[in-house]
Amino acid sequence: MSVLPVTPARSFVDTMTLKMYMPTWSPTSWQQRPADQQPRYDDGSALNTVVEQLSQLPPLVTSWEVEALKQQLAEAANGQRFLLQGGDCAESLVECDSASIASKLKILLQMSLVLVHGTRKRVIRIGRFAGQYAKPRSSDTETRDGVTLPSYRGDCVNKAEFTAEARKPDPQLLLRAYERSALTLNFIRALIDGGFADLHHPEYWDLDFMQHSPRAAEYQRIVEAIGQSLRFMETLAGISVSDMNRVDFYTSHEGLHLLYEQAQTRQVPHRTGWYNLSTHCPWIGMRTATTDGAHVEYFRGLRNPIGVKIGPITTPDRLRDLLDILHPDDEPGRITLIHRFGVHEIVKHLPALVDVVKKSGKTVLWCCDPMHGNTQMTDDGIKTRKFDHILAELEAAFEIHENHGTILGGVHVEVTGDNVTECTGGARGLSDGDLGQAYRSQVDPRLNYEQALELAMLITRQAG
Ligand code: PEP
Ligand code: CO
Repeated sequence: MSVLPVTPARSFVDTMTLKMYMPTWSPTSWQQRPADQQPRYDDGSALNTVVEQLSQLPPLVTSWEVEALKQQLAEAANGQRFLLQGGDCAESLVECDSASIASKLKILLQMSLVLVHGTRKRVIRIGRFAGQYAKPRSSDTETRDGVTLPSYRGDCVNKAEFTAEARKPDPQLLLRAYERSALTLNFIRALIDGGFADLHHPEYWDLDFMQHSPRAAEYQRIVEAIGQSLRFMETLAGISVSDMNRVDFYTSHEGLHLLYEQAQTRQVPHRTGWYNLSTHCPWIGMRTATTDGAHVEYFRGLRNPIGVKIGPITTPDRLRDLLDILHPDDEPGRITLIHRFGVHEIVKHLPALVDVVKKSGKTVLWCCDPMHGNTQMTDDGIKTRKFDHILAELEAAFEIHENHGTILGGVHVEVTGDNVTECTGGARGLSDGDLGQAYRSQVDPRLNYEQALELAMLITRQAG
Protein backbone atom coordinates (compact mmCIF):
# COMPACT_ATOMS: atom_id res chain seq x y z
CA MET A 1 0.00 0.00 0.00
CA SER A 2 1.25 3.46 -0.82
CA VAL A 3 2.26 5.66 2.08
CA LEU A 4 1.05 8.80 0.37
CA PRO A 5 -2.23 10.17 1.72
CA VAL A 6 -5.30 9.92 -0.48
CA THR A 7 -6.69 13.36 -1.29
CA PRO A 8 -10.06 13.16 0.49
CA ALA A 9 -11.90 15.67 -1.72
CA ARG A 10 -11.16 13.89 -4.98
CA SER A 11 -11.54 10.39 -3.66
CA PHE A 12 -14.92 10.97 -2.01
CA VAL A 13 -16.67 13.37 -4.36
CA ASP A 14 -15.50 11.83 -7.61
CA THR A 15 -16.11 8.28 -6.53
CA MET A 16 -19.63 9.25 -5.50
CA THR A 17 -20.19 11.04 -8.80
CA LEU A 18 -18.91 8.06 -10.73
CA LYS A 19 -21.13 5.68 -8.79
CA MET A 20 -24.20 7.84 -9.35
CA TYR A 21 -23.68 7.86 -13.09
CA MET A 22 -22.75 4.22 -13.33
CA PRO A 23 -25.77 2.16 -14.36
CA THR A 24 -26.30 -1.28 -12.91
CA TRP A 25 -23.83 -3.77 -14.27
CA SER A 26 -24.81 -6.99 -16.02
CA PRO A 27 -22.88 -9.25 -18.42
CA THR A 28 -24.63 -7.38 -21.26
CA SER A 29 -24.52 -3.79 -19.94
CA TRP A 30 -21.44 -3.13 -22.12
CA GLN A 31 -23.81 -3.22 -25.10
CA GLN A 32 -25.01 0.28 -24.16
CA ARG A 33 -21.51 1.65 -24.76
CA PRO A 34 -19.41 2.19 -27.89
CA ALA A 35 -17.48 -1.05 -28.46
CA ASP A 36 -14.20 -0.68 -30.34
CA GLN A 37 -12.44 -3.44 -32.25
CA GLN A 38 -15.52 -5.62 -32.76
CA PRO A 39 -15.97 -7.50 -36.05
CA ARG A 40 -18.95 -6.72 -38.26
CA TYR A 41 -20.89 -9.87 -39.00
CA ASP A 42 -23.25 -10.08 -41.99
CA ASP A 43 -25.64 -12.53 -40.40
CA GLY A 44 -26.87 -11.30 -37.02
CA SER A 45 -29.06 -14.30 -36.35
CA ALA A 46 -26.23 -16.80 -37.01
CA LEU A 47 -24.14 -14.78 -34.56
CA ASN A 48 -26.87 -14.85 -31.92
CA THR A 49 -27.23 -18.61 -32.28
CA VAL A 50 -23.51 -19.08 -31.69
CA VAL A 51 -23.49 -16.78 -28.65
CA GLU A 52 -26.45 -18.68 -27.25
CA GLN A 53 -24.61 -21.99 -27.75
CA LEU A 54 -21.47 -20.63 -26.14
CA SER A 55 -23.42 -19.54 -23.10
CA GLN A 56 -24.70 -23.10 -22.62
CA LEU A 57 -21.30 -24.77 -22.93
CA PRO A 58 -19.38 -25.61 -19.76
CA PRO A 59 -16.82 -23.16 -18.37
CA LEU A 60 -13.12 -23.72 -19.02
CA VAL A 61 -11.85 -22.73 -15.58
CA THR A 62 -13.36 -22.64 -12.11
CA SER A 63 -14.02 -19.81 -9.70
CA TRP A 64 -11.77 -21.32 -7.02
CA GLU A 65 -8.83 -21.37 -9.44
CA VAL A 66 -9.61 -17.76 -10.28
CA GLU A 67 -9.70 -16.80 -6.59
CA ALA A 68 -6.46 -18.71 -5.89
CA LEU A 69 -4.74 -16.76 -8.65
CA LYS A 70 -6.08 -13.47 -7.29
CA GLN A 71 -4.54 -14.29 -3.93
CA GLN A 72 -1.18 -15.06 -5.55
CA LEU A 73 -1.27 -11.86 -7.57
CA ALA A 74 -1.89 -9.92 -4.35
CA GLU A 75 1.32 -11.47 -2.99
CA ALA A 76 3.19 -10.48 -6.16
CA ALA A 77 1.98 -6.89 -5.73
CA ASN A 78 3.69 -6.92 -2.33
CA GLY A 79 6.91 -8.33 -3.76
CA GLN A 80 6.49 -11.84 -2.38
CA ARG A 81 6.04 -13.51 -5.76
CA PHE A 82 6.98 -12.73 -9.34
CA LEU A 83 4.58 -12.97 -12.28
CA LEU A 84 5.64 -14.53 -15.56
CA GLN A 85 2.97 -14.06 -18.22
CA GLY A 86 3.77 -15.20 -21.73
CA GLY A 87 2.82 -16.94 -24.91
CA ASP A 88 1.89 -16.25 -28.50
CA CYS A 89 0.69 -12.89 -29.70
CA ALA A 90 -2.18 -14.78 -31.31
CA GLU A 91 -2.98 -18.47 -31.04
CA SER A 92 -3.78 -20.32 -34.21
CA LEU A 93 -6.58 -22.87 -34.61
CA VAL A 94 -4.33 -24.97 -36.84
CA GLU A 95 -1.42 -25.07 -34.41
CA CYS A 96 -3.48 -26.66 -31.67
CA ASP A 97 -1.32 -29.80 -31.59
CA SER A 98 0.58 -31.65 -28.92
CA ALA A 99 4.05 -30.47 -29.94
CA SER A 100 3.08 -26.78 -30.02
CA ILE A 101 1.29 -26.91 -26.71
CA ALA A 102 4.07 -28.85 -24.99
CA SER A 103 6.72 -26.46 -26.28
CA LYS A 104 4.80 -23.43 -24.99
CA LEU A 105 4.65 -25.07 -21.61
CA LYS A 106 8.32 -26.03 -21.72
CA ILE A 107 9.63 -22.55 -22.40
CA LEU A 108 7.47 -21.02 -19.66
CA LEU A 109 8.61 -23.71 -17.22
CA GLN A 110 12.25 -23.14 -18.13
CA MET A 111 11.93 -19.38 -17.80
CA SER A 112 10.20 -19.78 -14.47
CA LEU A 113 12.90 -22.13 -13.22
CA VAL A 114 15.52 -19.49 -13.99
CA LEU A 115 13.36 -16.87 -12.27
CA VAL A 116 12.74 -18.96 -9.15
CA HIS A 117 16.42 -19.69 -8.86
CA GLY A 118 17.54 -16.11 -9.41
CA THR A 119 14.86 -14.16 -7.56
CA ARG A 120 14.30 -16.65 -4.70
CA LYS A 121 10.62 -15.92 -5.12
CA ARG A 122 7.73 -18.13 -6.04
CA VAL A 123 6.77 -17.53 -9.64
CA ILE A 124 3.19 -17.30 -10.89
CA ARG A 125 2.93 -18.73 -14.39
CA ILE A 126 0.20 -17.36 -16.61
CA GLY A 127 0.08 -18.44 -20.24
CA ARG A 128 -1.25 -16.29 -23.05
CA PHE A 129 -3.09 -19.36 -24.24
CA ALA A 130 -6.35 -21.31 -24.34
CA GLY A 131 -8.27 -18.28 -25.60
CA GLN A 132 -5.86 -15.78 -27.19
CA TYR A 133 -7.65 -15.78 -30.53
CA ALA A 134 -8.92 -12.18 -30.97
CA LYS A 135 -6.63 -9.34 -32.04
CA PRO A 136 -7.05 -5.56 -31.99
CA ARG A 137 -5.98 -3.93 -35.27
CA SER A 138 -4.94 -0.38 -36.05
CA SER A 139 -7.26 -0.29 -39.08
CA ASP A 140 -10.58 -1.98 -39.92
CA THR A 141 -9.40 -2.72 -43.44
CA GLU A 142 -6.22 -3.71 -45.21
CA THR A 143 -5.34 -2.75 -48.79
CA ARG A 144 -3.00 -4.75 -51.00
CA ASP A 145 -2.39 -3.92 -54.67
CA GLY A 146 -5.51 -1.79 -54.78
CA VAL A 147 -7.74 -4.44 -53.17
CA THR A 148 -9.31 -3.52 -49.79
CA LEU A 149 -10.59 -6.23 -47.42
CA PRO A 150 -11.47 -6.40 -43.72
CA SER A 151 -8.38 -6.72 -41.51
CA TYR A 152 -7.49 -10.09 -40.03
CA ARG A 153 -8.77 -9.96 -36.42
CA GLY A 154 -7.59 -13.29 -35.06
CA ASP A 155 -8.61 -16.90 -35.69
CA CYS A 156 -11.87 -16.61 -33.73
CA VAL A 157 -13.07 -13.95 -36.17
CA ASN A 158 -11.69 -14.59 -39.66
CA LYS A 159 -8.71 -16.08 -41.49
CA ALA A 160 -5.38 -14.39 -42.20
CA GLU A 161 -5.30 -15.31 -45.90
CA PHE A 162 -5.90 -12.25 -48.12
CA THR A 163 -9.11 -13.27 -49.91
CA ALA A 164 -12.61 -11.87 -49.54
CA GLU A 165 -13.90 -15.26 -48.37
CA ALA A 166 -11.18 -15.76 -45.73
CA ARG A 167 -11.51 -12.24 -44.33
CA LYS A 168 -15.27 -12.44 -43.84
CA PRO A 169 -16.04 -12.68 -40.10
CA ASP A 170 -17.57 -16.10 -39.42
CA PRO A 171 -19.47 -16.65 -36.12
CA GLN A 172 -18.72 -20.39 -36.24
CA LEU A 173 -15.07 -19.55 -35.58
CA LEU A 174 -16.04 -18.46 -32.07
CA LEU A 175 -17.14 -22.02 -31.36
CA ARG A 176 -13.97 -23.42 -32.93
CA ALA A 177 -11.88 -21.11 -30.71
CA TYR A 178 -13.79 -22.15 -27.59
CA GLU A 179 -13.27 -25.83 -28.47
CA ARG A 180 -9.57 -25.37 -29.21
CA SER A 181 -9.20 -23.49 -25.92
CA ALA A 182 -10.81 -26.43 -24.11
CA LEU A 183 -8.54 -28.93 -25.91
CA THR A 184 -5.45 -26.87 -25.12
CA LEU A 185 -6.35 -26.53 -21.48
CA ASN A 186 -7.26 -30.19 -21.20
CA PHE A 187 -3.84 -31.22 -22.52
CA ILE A 188 -2.03 -28.75 -20.26
CA ARG A 189 -3.90 -29.98 -17.20
CA ALA A 190 -3.18 -33.61 -18.14
CA LEU A 191 0.52 -32.93 -18.67
CA ILE A 192 0.81 -31.18 -15.35
CA ASP A 193 -1.17 -33.80 -13.45
CA GLY A 194 0.92 -36.51 -15.09
CA GLY A 195 4.14 -35.06 -13.68
CA PHE A 196 5.40 -33.07 -16.67
CA ALA A 197 5.99 -30.01 -14.50
CA ASP A 198 7.68 -31.97 -11.71
CA LEU A 199 10.70 -30.02 -10.52
CA HIS A 200 12.55 -33.31 -10.05
CA HIS A 201 12.44 -33.85 -13.80
CA PRO A 202 13.32 -30.63 -15.59
CA GLU A 203 14.76 -32.81 -18.38
CA TYR A 204 11.15 -33.33 -19.52
CA TRP A 205 11.15 -29.69 -20.58
CA ASP A 206 14.23 -29.87 -22.78
CA LEU A 207 13.68 -28.64 -26.29
CA ASP A 208 15.41 -30.50 -29.12
CA PHE A 209 17.60 -27.68 -30.33
CA MET A 210 18.51 -26.55 -26.83
CA GLN A 211 22.02 -28.05 -26.64
CA HIS A 212 23.13 -25.72 -29.46
CA SER A 213 22.13 -22.63 -27.53
CA PRO A 214 24.83 -20.29 -26.22
CA ARG A 215 22.81 -20.19 -22.99
CA ALA A 216 22.58 -23.96 -22.58
CA ALA A 217 25.46 -24.27 -20.13
CA GLU A 218 24.14 -21.53 -17.84
CA TYR A 219 20.68 -23.08 -17.89
CA GLN A 220 22.10 -26.54 -17.08
CA ARG A 221 23.94 -25.07 -14.09
CA ILE A 222 20.66 -23.65 -12.79
CA VAL A 223 18.87 -26.97 -13.28
CA GLU A 224 21.68 -28.75 -11.44
CA ALA A 225 21.58 -26.24 -8.57
CA ILE A 226 17.83 -26.65 -8.15
CA GLY A 227 18.17 -30.45 -8.25
CA GLN A 228 20.79 -30.27 -5.51
CA SER A 229 18.62 -28.00 -3.36
CA LEU A 230 15.68 -30.35 -3.74
CA ARG A 231 17.76 -33.39 -2.81
CA PHE A 232 19.24 -31.50 0.12
CA MET A 233 15.82 -30.53 1.48
CA GLU A 234 14.46 -34.03 0.98
CA THR A 235 17.43 -35.61 2.72
CA LEU A 236 17.09 -33.17 5.57
CA ALA A 237 13.36 -33.61 5.98
CA GLY A 238 13.34 -37.31 5.11
CA ILE A 239 10.35 -36.81 2.84
CA SER A 240 9.83 -35.78 -0.71
CA VAL A 241 9.08 -32.13 -1.31
CA SER A 242 5.59 -32.94 -2.42
CA ASP A 243 4.46 -29.35 -2.58
CA MET A 244 7.11 -28.78 -5.20
CA ASN A 245 6.32 -31.80 -7.30
CA ARG A 246 3.95 -29.79 -9.37
CA VAL A 247 3.50 -26.21 -10.32
CA ASP A 248 0.37 -24.29 -11.17
CA PHE A 249 -0.42 -22.85 -14.55
CA TYR A 250 -3.00 -20.22 -15.20
CA THR A 251 -4.43 -18.88 -18.43
CA SER A 252 -5.11 -15.41 -19.78
CA HIS A 253 -6.14 -13.72 -22.98
CA GLU A 254 -7.17 -10.28 -24.14
CA GLY A 255 -10.88 -9.90 -23.43
CA LEU A 256 -11.50 -8.24 -26.75
CA HIS A 257 -14.42 -9.99 -28.43
CA LEU A 258 -17.12 -8.98 -26.00
CA LEU A 259 -19.86 -11.36 -27.14
CA TYR A 260 -17.49 -14.29 -26.62
CA GLU A 261 -16.54 -13.04 -23.15
CA GLN A 262 -20.16 -12.30 -22.24
CA ALA A 263 -21.21 -15.84 -23.15
CA GLN A 264 -18.70 -17.31 -20.71
CA THR A 265 -19.60 -14.94 -17.85
CA ARG A 266 -21.28 -16.94 -15.12
CA GLN A 267 -22.53 -16.97 -11.57
CA VAL A 268 -21.44 -19.88 -9.42
CA PRO A 269 -22.95 -21.48 -6.33
CA HIS A 270 -21.72 -20.22 -2.95
CA ARG A 271 -20.04 -17.12 -4.31
CA THR A 272 -21.36 -13.69 -5.10
CA GLY A 273 -20.77 -11.83 -8.33
CA TRP A 274 -19.90 -12.83 -11.86
CA TYR A 275 -16.87 -14.66 -13.17
CA ASN A 276 -15.52 -14.84 -16.67
CA LEU A 277 -14.87 -18.58 -16.71
CA SER A 278 -13.23 -18.73 -20.14
CA THR A 279 -9.93 -17.81 -18.50
CA HIS A 280 -8.39 -17.04 -15.13
CA CYS A 281 -7.13 -13.55 -15.83
CA PRO A 282 -8.46 -11.65 -18.85
CA TRP A 283 -6.84 -8.34 -19.75
CA ILE A 284 -8.04 -5.14 -21.42
CA GLY A 285 -5.88 -4.13 -24.37
CA MET A 286 -4.35 -0.68 -24.47
CA ARG A 287 -6.58 0.48 -27.32
CA THR A 288 -9.81 -0.51 -25.59
CA ALA A 289 -8.93 0.70 -22.08
CA THR A 290 -11.05 3.85 -22.39
CA THR A 291 -13.16 4.92 -19.44
CA ASP A 292 -16.42 5.31 -21.36
CA GLY A 293 -15.96 2.30 -23.63
CA ALA A 294 -17.69 -1.05 -23.66
CA HIS A 295 -14.64 -3.06 -22.58
CA VAL A 296 -14.12 -1.19 -19.33
CA GLU A 297 -17.85 -1.44 -18.63
CA TYR A 298 -17.72 -5.22 -19.15
CA PHE A 299 -14.59 -5.73 -17.05
CA ARG A 300 -15.73 -3.65 -14.11
CA GLY A 301 -18.34 -6.24 -13.13
CA LEU A 302 -16.05 -9.28 -13.12
CA ARG A 303 -14.74 -10.98 -9.99
CA ASN A 304 -11.63 -12.18 -11.86
CA PRO A 305 -8.25 -10.58 -11.37
CA ILE A 306 -7.79 -8.45 -14.48
CA GLY A 307 -4.92 -6.96 -16.42
CA VAL A 308 -5.01 -3.48 -17.94
CA LYS A 309 -2.51 -2.61 -20.66
CA ILE A 310 -1.27 0.95 -20.38
CA GLY A 311 1.03 2.81 -22.74
CA PRO A 312 1.89 6.16 -24.28
CA ILE A 313 -1.80 6.93 -24.97
CA THR A 314 -2.74 6.44 -21.29
CA THR A 315 -2.79 9.82 -19.56
CA PRO A 316 -2.49 10.06 -15.76
CA ASP A 317 -6.10 11.34 -15.60
CA ARG A 318 -7.33 8.38 -17.59
CA LEU A 319 -5.46 5.95 -15.39
CA ARG A 320 -6.89 7.56 -12.26
CA ASP A 321 -10.41 7.23 -13.69
CA LEU A 322 -9.77 3.63 -14.76
CA LEU A 323 -8.76 2.76 -11.21
CA ASP A 324 -11.91 4.43 -9.86
CA ILE A 325 -14.04 2.30 -12.17
CA LEU A 326 -12.15 -1.00 -12.18
CA HIS A 327 -10.54 -0.99 -8.74
CA PRO A 328 -13.01 0.91 -6.52
CA ASP A 329 -12.53 -1.26 -3.44
CA ASP A 330 -8.77 -1.76 -3.68
CA GLU A 331 -9.30 -5.51 -3.54
CA PRO A 332 -5.94 -7.31 -3.18
CA GLY A 333 -4.84 -8.98 -6.41
CA ARG A 334 -7.59 -7.43 -8.49
CA ILE A 335 -5.53 -5.23 -10.86
CA THR A 336 -2.34 -5.85 -12.75
CA LEU A 337 -1.15 -2.81 -14.68
CA ILE A 338 0.82 -4.05 -17.67
CA HIS A 339 2.87 -1.17 -19.03
CA ARG A 340 4.18 -1.19 -22.56
CA PHE A 341 5.79 2.04 -23.69
CA GLY A 342 8.83 1.13 -25.76
CA VAL A 343 12.40 1.83 -24.80
CA HIS A 344 12.28 5.40 -26.07
CA GLU A 345 9.04 6.34 -24.30
CA ILE A 346 9.10 4.65 -20.90
CA VAL A 347 11.10 7.34 -19.09
CA LYS A 348 8.77 10.02 -20.44
CA HIS A 349 5.50 8.36 -19.40
CA LEU A 350 5.87 5.81 -16.61
CA PRO A 351 6.83 8.12 -13.69
CA ALA A 352 3.62 10.19 -13.93
CA LEU A 353 1.49 7.04 -14.06
CA VAL A 354 3.26 5.56 -11.05
CA ASP A 355 2.65 8.84 -9.21
CA VAL A 356 -1.05 8.85 -9.95
CA VAL A 357 -1.44 5.30 -8.68
CA LYS A 358 0.50 6.17 -5.53
CA LYS A 359 -1.75 9.17 -5.01
CA SER A 360 -4.84 6.98 -5.32
CA GLY A 361 -3.62 5.01 -2.32
CA LYS A 362 -4.51 1.78 -4.10
CA THR A 363 -2.33 -1.26 -4.55
CA VAL A 364 -1.72 -2.69 -8.00
CA LEU A 365 0.66 -5.27 -9.39
CA TRP A 366 3.06 -3.58 -11.80
CA CYS A 367 4.08 -5.71 -14.74
CA CYS A 368 6.27 -4.73 -17.71
CA ASP A 369 5.45 -5.80 -21.27
CA PRO A 370 8.69 -4.87 -23.05
CA MET A 371 7.37 -6.15 -26.39
CA HIS A 372 4.50 -4.05 -27.69
CA GLY A 373 6.15 -0.62 -27.56
CA ASN A 374 9.20 -1.92 -29.40
CA THR A 375 7.71 -3.23 -32.63
CA GLN A 376 9.29 -1.89 -35.80
CA MET A 377 9.48 -2.65 -39.52
CA THR A 378 12.63 -3.79 -41.31
CA ASP A 379 13.51 -2.21 -44.67
CA ASP A 380 11.81 -5.24 -46.26
CA GLY A 381 8.55 -4.50 -44.41
CA ILE A 382 8.87 -7.35 -41.86
CA LYS A 383 7.53 -6.67 -38.35
CA THR A 384 10.27 -7.27 -35.81
CA ARG A 385 11.60 -6.23 -32.40
CA LYS A 386 15.19 -5.70 -31.32
CA PHE A 387 16.19 -7.82 -28.36
CA ASP A 388 18.34 -4.95 -27.06
CA HIS A 389 15.29 -2.67 -26.96
CA ILE A 390 13.30 -5.29 -25.07
CA LEU A 391 16.06 -5.69 -22.48
CA ALA A 392 16.60 -1.96 -22.19
CA GLU A 393 12.91 -1.23 -21.60
CA LEU A 394 12.81 -3.87 -18.90
CA GLU A 395 15.92 -2.48 -17.23
CA ALA A 396 14.43 1.03 -17.30
CA ALA A 397 11.20 -0.31 -15.80
CA PHE A 398 13.03 -1.88 -12.84
CA GLU A 399 14.94 1.32 -12.28
CA ILE A 400 11.92 3.66 -12.45
CA HIS A 401 9.95 1.53 -10.01
CA GLU A 402 12.85 1.32 -7.66
CA ASN A 403 13.29 5.09 -7.72
CA HIS A 404 9.60 5.57 -6.98
CA GLY A 405 9.43 3.07 -4.15
CA THR A 406 7.14 0.77 -6.14
CA ILE A 407 7.79 -2.84 -7.11
CA LEU A 408 8.01 -4.25 -10.61
CA GLY A 409 6.44 -7.60 -9.84
CA GLY A 410 6.05 -9.20 -13.24
CA VAL A 411 6.90 -9.45 -16.89
CA HIS A 412 4.60 -10.02 -19.86
CA VAL A 413 6.20 -11.40 -23.02
CA GLU A 414 5.37 -12.79 -26.43
CA VAL A 415 7.39 -15.95 -26.61
CA THR A 416 7.45 -19.36 -28.21
CA GLY A 417 9.34 -22.53 -27.40
CA ASP A 418 9.92 -22.97 -31.12
CA ASN A 419 13.14 -22.07 -32.84
CA VAL A 420 11.76 -19.09 -34.73
CA THR A 421 13.56 -16.01 -36.04
CA GLU A 422 11.16 -13.14 -35.41
CA CYS A 423 13.02 -10.77 -33.03
CA THR A 424 16.56 -9.68 -33.90
CA GLY A 425 19.58 -9.75 -31.56
CA GLY A 426 20.08 -12.02 -28.57
CA ALA A 427 23.02 -14.29 -27.81
CA ARG A 428 23.16 -15.57 -31.38
CA GLY A 429 22.97 -12.04 -32.82
CA LEU A 430 20.12 -12.55 -35.31
CA SER A 431 20.04 -9.81 -37.94
CA ASP A 432 17.25 -8.43 -40.15
CA GLY A 433 18.56 -10.70 -42.91
CA ASP A 434 18.05 -13.81 -40.72
CA LEU A 435 14.35 -13.15 -40.10
CA GLY A 436 13.32 -15.05 -43.22
CA GLN A 437 14.75 -18.35 -41.88
CA ALA A 438 11.84 -19.18 -39.58
CA TYR A 439 9.34 -16.34 -39.31
CA ARG A 440 6.01 -17.90 -38.37
CA SER A 441 3.93 -15.36 -36.43
CA GLN A 442 0.78 -14.09 -38.14
CA VAL A 443 0.78 -11.02 -35.96
CA ASP A 444 3.58 -9.87 -33.64
CA PRO A 445 7.18 -11.16 -33.51
CA ARG A 446 7.96 -13.43 -30.53
CA LEU A 447 11.08 -14.16 -28.56
CA ASN A 448 12.48 -17.55 -29.44
CA TYR A 449 13.69 -20.08 -26.92
CA GLU A 450 17.20 -18.67 -26.50
CA GLN A 451 16.09 -15.07 -26.30
CA ALA A 452 13.45 -16.00 -23.72
CA LEU A 453 15.98 -17.69 -21.45
CA GLU A 454 18.37 -14.79 -21.83
CA LEU A 455 15.60 -12.40 -20.81
CA ALA A 456 14.78 -14.51 -17.74
CA MET A 457 18.45 -14.48 -16.77
CA LEU A 458 18.52 -10.71 -17.06
CA ILE A 459 15.43 -10.34 -14.89
CA THR A 460 17.04 -12.33 -12.12
CA ARG A 461 19.88 -9.85 -12.05
CA GLN A 462 17.37 -7.02 -11.49
CA ALA A 463 14.62 -8.57 -9.42
CA GLY A 464 16.66 -10.87 -7.21
C1 PEP B 1 -1.10 -7.81 -27.31
O1 PEP B 1 -0.83 -8.04 -26.12
O2 PEP B 1 -0.97 -8.66 -28.22
C2 PEP B 1 -1.56 -6.44 -27.66
C3 PEP B 1 -2.21 -6.19 -28.78
O3 PEP B 1 -1.20 -5.56 -26.73
P1 PEP B 1 -1.53 -4.01 -26.52
O4 PEP B 1 -2.97 -3.92 -26.15
O5 PEP B 1 -0.62 -3.68 -25.39
O6 PEP B 1 -1.19 -3.28 -27.78
CO1 CO C 1 1.00 -8.83 -29.68
